[in-house]
Amino acid sequence: MLQINGKTKTCGLIGCPVEHTLSPLIHNTLSEHMGLNMVYVPFHVERENVEAALRGAHALSVGGLNVTVPHKSAVIPYLKEIDPLAEKIGAVNTLVPVEGGYKGYNTDMTGLQRAMESEGIAIAGKEAILLGAGGASRAVAFMLTAKGAEKVYMLNRSQDKAQMVAGEVNKAMGCEKVIAMSLEGYKELTGKKYLCIQGTSVGLYPDCRRAVIEDEAFYELVEVAVDLIYKPAETRFMSLCKAAGAKAYNGLKMLLYQGIIAYELWNDVQVSDELAEKIYEMMKEETKIEG
Ligand code: ATR
Repeated sequence: MLQINGKTKTCGLIGCPVEHTLSPLIHNTLSEHMGLNMVYVPFHVERENVEAALRGAHALSVGGLNVTVPHKSAVIPYLKEIDPLAEKIGAVNTLVPVEGGYKGYNTDMTGLQRAMESEGIAIAGKEAILLGAGGASRAVAFMLTAKGAEKVYMLNRSQDKAQMVAGEVNKAMGCEKVIAMSLEGYKELTGKKYLCIQGTSVGLYPDCRRAVIEDEAFYELVEVAVDLIYKPAETRFMSLCKAAGAKAYNGLKMLLYQGIIAYELWNDVQVSDELAEKIYEMMKEETKIEG
């Protein structure tokens, strides 16, 4: 049981809303099992208070923060330092105390990478199909190119948005690997199987019956897929992948590892695979849809 005393380190999450977060479960369970004197709490922060929140957190010696929607980009001007990949992505979700303030990281993307690694999914040298061009997909495009993907075909409903995002990523990464396409663009991709990341909001609970692409022919192109959505645990996109013989994973491990990496940065520790697995099981239980 958690014992709060004069030496307890406080970490937390800033966002709006923060009421449905799983992060306290992740971090407080980690502390409990690793015997660290740390507590993790949600902080509801309105848009206009982001700067004050960071200054206040620093003044209170808050030992680490996560940042969620809608503040992941808004916090950047108030950081003392920023990790180079997080800077390129333009979004941070983890703040680590440094002299005079905080350093920002994007553990969403290192978390996705570690989740993929744990499932044996390779990125380097692969050609990938990335569905969506919103904030989440944009970050994934950076991560895939940074980790050595050969090509990233970014398919989006609004092709001009994909065009813009692909251009930004290519420019920042000094490459021409990201190729923008419409949602029908896969018809031009033939002859082999791809790694596929689903980064749109289509299929998210409670609107679970939809997938961003319904055509069965598309799923024949998929070798292995990750849907960033974790509720429902099996999205329609994942079901369609599996029906075509592909492996498909949801976004819950990404959520787990973004938390674990943040925890490791704050506490200078290494979380074991066994403990990661234990927390993963708790998260699965917590995100189960009742009824
Ligand atoms: P996030 O920050 O979570 O990525 P977002 O920026 O709102 O959220 O992006 C949502 C993504 O889902 C976009 O790629 C969006 O496509 P558009 O850019 O064309 O809007 C995609 N999306 C949302 N609803 C969709 C739908 N009904 N059909 C196809 N794509 C959809």
